[in-house]
Amino acid sequence: MAKSAPRYACQECGAVYPKWAGRCEACGAWNSLVEELPRAGPPKSLAGSRQGGQALDFVALTGDSRGAPRHLTGIAELDRVCGGGLVPGSAILVGGDPGIGKSTLLLQAAAAVAASGGKATYITGEEAIDQIRLRARRLGVADAPVRLAVATSVRDIAAALDTANPPQLAIIDSIQTMYLDTLDSAPGTVSQVRGAAQELIGLAKRRGFVLVLVGHVTKEGMIAGPRVLEHMVDTVLYFEGERGHQFRILRAVKNRFGATDEIGVFEMSDQGLVEVPNPSAMFLAERAEAEHEAGGVTGAAVFAGIEGTRPVLVEIQALVAPSLLGTPRRAVVGWDATRLAMIIAVLDARCGLSVGANDIYLNVAGGLRIGEPAADLAVAAALISALTESPVPADTVVFGEIGLSGRVRPVSHSDARLKEAAKLGFTEAWLPARPGARSRRSADGIAAAPIGHLSELVDRLAPAERRRPRRIAAAP
Ligand SMILES: Nc1ncnc2c1ncn2[C@@H]1O[C@H](COP(=O)(O)OP(=O)(O)OP(=O)(O)O)[C@@H](O)[C@H]1O
Ligand SMILES: [Mg+2]
Repeated sequence: MAKSAPRYACQECGAVYPKWAGRCEACGAWNSLVEELPRAGPPKSLAGSRQGGQALDFVALTGDSRGAPRHLTGIAELDRVCGGGLVPGSAILVGGDPGIGKSTLLLQAAAAVAASGGKATYITGEEAIDQIRLRARRLGVADAPVRLAVATSVRDIAAALDTANPPQLAIIDSIQTMYLDTLDSAPGTVSQVRGAAQELIGLAKRRGFVLVLVGHVTKEGMIAGPRVLEHMVDTVLYFEGERGHQFRILRAVKNRFGATDEIGVFEMSDQGLVEVPNPSAMFLAERAEAEHEAGGVTGAAVFAGIEGTRPVLVEIQALVAPSLLGTPRRAVVGWDATRLAMIIAVLDARCGLSVGANDIYLNVAGGLRIGEPAADLAVAAALISALTESPVPADTVVFGEIGLSGRVRPVSHSDARLKEAAKLGFTEAWLPARPGARSRRSADGIAAAPIGHLSELVDRLAPAERRRPRRIAAAP
């Protein structure tokens, strides 16, 4: 192959093709192939020329390690998501929708580190110095001795960071704007993103500083550029939040130094992102007000969930309305639509309801996105409550996974869920039945009401004589 023969790399997954095509065969993305020039000739095999290699220096698992203590940023929710502080020499990738607050959070983190005597560097390739200064003033951190620079050349950045006295924290905003002059392709392309990241991560490991890379996301919400970027870094954090909500959730999707799916909850204010130490209370705040006004709310159930290592209570809301024409409508916010379809099918097939014929709207209050199957039972409770117009008791939390047979299956961390519910004043929990245990009171004084099958939940919420014949018809 000639040295400059063109090749085409998929901007979504990094697969390389000799010819252009409309669709990447590896990941199925359309229009994602971009011409890139190869860096060198085809890789040569080492076979036959192994003489030059140096002997590896093998060591034992025990021994003196340089294990420097983790840096605490002073932003407790950020430290928690990283597994209890930032690990020196590690690389963290922060992704999130445009305008969600990535730069804001990281500027706050840099300022907090600098204010507590650490050395923090913030390098931006996206904004001008004046814009960052304006933001710093608005956030009230303009006095912190953060070292700020505008740069896009990895060569310049490496020269600044590759010193005997590197910063503790270096923030690169964003990796898509950085370029390596040894590569021919344009900034933002797969090879540039990969090359620039590799260079910076290697430097961070060698010099022992914490590297934070901001990553753009694609329309689908994945970090733009090669998927390998997520493999190269030690920690991947996603910043998420529903538009129109001021809550922002920082979620660890990969962490080599801590639990994944750990979340940090923030509230966006004009002074920047404010930590929310007790998310359950925040997610349920609206509910307390609503209860005050009305006697009981139908179509709502409180789910006792677990995010990472932390229990979080959220309200699940459902609206079931007769479908006027055509295919019934389904709209889901904060939960998996396929999972909803499954629960509707189980309610119809195993419990003799006809939920599926109605328009159904499901919402997780507060903008949280739930991925746990343990929410099944709470979703079912909200649906049944909406359909039969019988409220779930206000002091009850619900959790449990539902199988296709309608059986309710046990979930992990029951005790942590109950404890959080007790802390917020709940007195009863509807949860999966455990073999041998009929009804029990947990150590925290919550009455546990086990549910073995989904039909028991239907009976409990809406005893047959109270069901409205108009909306609930027995299955034929
Ligand atoms: N004056 C202001 N008052 C209140 N909130 C503001 C103000 N200016 C900006 N914000 C908030 O900050 C958000 C922008 O945050 P930021 O620039 O950190 O996002 P980002 O994730 O870095 O975005 P991008 O991907 O475009 O760089 C805005 O969406 C808005 O919510
Ligand atoms: Mg930004």
